[in-house]
Amino acid sequence: MKKILFVASEAVPFAKTGGLADVVGSLPKYFNKEFIDVRVMIPKYLCIDEPLRNQMTYKNHFYMDYLDQSRYVGILQYVYEGITFYFIDNEGYFNGSRPYGDGFYDLEKFCFFSRAALSSLPVIGFQPDVIHCHDWQTALIPVLLKDRFHEGEFFRSIKSVLTIHNLKFQGVWDLKTIQRLTCLPDYYFTPDKLEAYKDGNLLKGGIVYGDAITTVSDTYAQEIKLPFYGEGLDGLMRAREGSLRGILNGIDYEEFNPETDTYIVQNYHAGNFADKKGENKLALQKELGLCQDEKMFMVGVVSRLTDQKGLDLIQCVIDELCQDHIQLVILGTGEERYENMFRHYAWKYPDKVSANIYYSEAMSHKVYAACDAFLMPSLFEPCGLSQLMALRYGAVPIVRETGGLKDTVEPYNEYENSGTGFSFSNYNAHEMLDMIRYAQRVYYDKKKEWNMLTHRAMKKDYSWKASARKYEELYDWITGC
Ligand code: ADP
Ligand code: GLC
Repeated sequence: MKKILFVASEAVPFAKTGGLADVVGSLPKYFNKEFIDVRVMIPKYLCIDEPLRNQMTYKNHFYMDYLDQSRYVGILQYVYEGITFYFIDNEGYFNGSRPYGDGFYDLEKFCFFSRAALSSLPVIGFQPDVIHCHDWQTALIPVLLKDRFHEGEFFRSIKSVLTIHNLKFQGVWDLKTIQRLTCLPDYYFTPDKLEAYKDGNLLKGGIVYGDAITTVSDTYAQEIKLPFYGEGLDGLMRAREGSLRGILNGIDYEEFNPETDTYIVQNYHAGNFADKKGENKLALQKELGLCQDEKMFMVGVVSRLTDQKGLDLIQCVIDELCQDHIQLVILGTGEERYENMFRHYAWKYPDKVSANIYYSEAMSHKVYAACDAFLMPSLFEPCGLSQLMALRYGAVPIVRETGGLKDTVEPYNEYENSGTGFSFSNYNAHEMLDMIRYAQRVYYDKKKEWNMLTHRAMKKDYSWKASARKYEELYDWITGC
């Protein structure tokens, strides 16, 4: 039996700021339990919902020297849907109303967490064959495994995998600070290790020292070797390409299932969506105060509101778009400039634009279920889960051809009657607008084709089945068995 430990900063249903949590919380369920014992470790944030926190049981605790203080490390456990989750407790670090997002303080928090996660393993008696780390928050672990922790017999044979969910976030601060927080010797702070452009860089450490590196789609794995997408690390990605793989994300097909979803007013499936899905549109129009018309072309956006997501393209053409017979439903939070932009257009076009500037799992399901199309014109997109949810719910994706969007949305071809969505290649607002208008023409003028397109979208299988096998192969490869 192979033992795998996921260590990450977030996992559904406990803490989520983006798609990372969906991946860490759902992928473990899809490994072959006969051969793999996979467990997950995340911080015990104070902002985890109380009913979930109440289910955790105390396992052990110890004190760890870190930054000249002896610090409490509690370990709690919760077996959720058959998966063992461990929670690292330290109220000083993991308090606050959200898991993280405070820049400098996050660095110390996750350096502490990475160290505490490793130190807790002998205490709970779990010796994994592979520690699977995710993003910069846990990228220090492969470095620690090669350093001091290697001296102990317990850690010597543990291999590491680092999955890059988003290369933009690297955990960067000045060299001295990063050295202080990581407690590593000078040896590690040279440009071939944790130094990048004169700063200290945690993600870089994980990329240099991880036994294998993965990212979340094939196209993104190629893109990050180029300067445009490489976020300053494209040279390193090229140097490590022999150990770099793209493994596409999946989504939890039980959680995201229009046939059983309890958040939506009318359940449906690929066989009856044409008759039933419209009920969800009417209900959402009513709930959001939009003009109620089942035939109106409704486009959804469920997103973090950041530059990554291509929202400036929407801003550029939204006035033109609102001249069309169209409704735009936005659900998202993020940068103030985008939050205010959508609020403004909802005020300007109250019948057509609905700006929902908050986070709600329930509302996200309603939007996927109600909309005819789903807009995701990202500047870059390592994988993207929202378009997979949209496909599953028959909201035809309109995307820019980048990263995982390119790998998961097959462009509609009206001559062959194939494809599952609409895509454009250049980062250009009018190319996007042309695609939205093309989609509208098919929706309004060629209903039969539109329905066949929606049917194909819903029939696509982006569950974890195939990708979980690829991770299993990767674990076999790095452990040599
Ligand atoms: P990223 O991780 O870059 O934010 P993904 O597409 O991989 O993008 O994942 C986004 C996830 O977050 C999806 O599950 C999406 O439904 C969800 N999401 C984003 N914003 C909201 C929101 N305001 N309310 C509910 N869910 C949201
Ligand atoms: C990141 C990426 C997103 C990806 C998610 C999960 O947040 O921005 O594209 O789907 O991680 O891997």
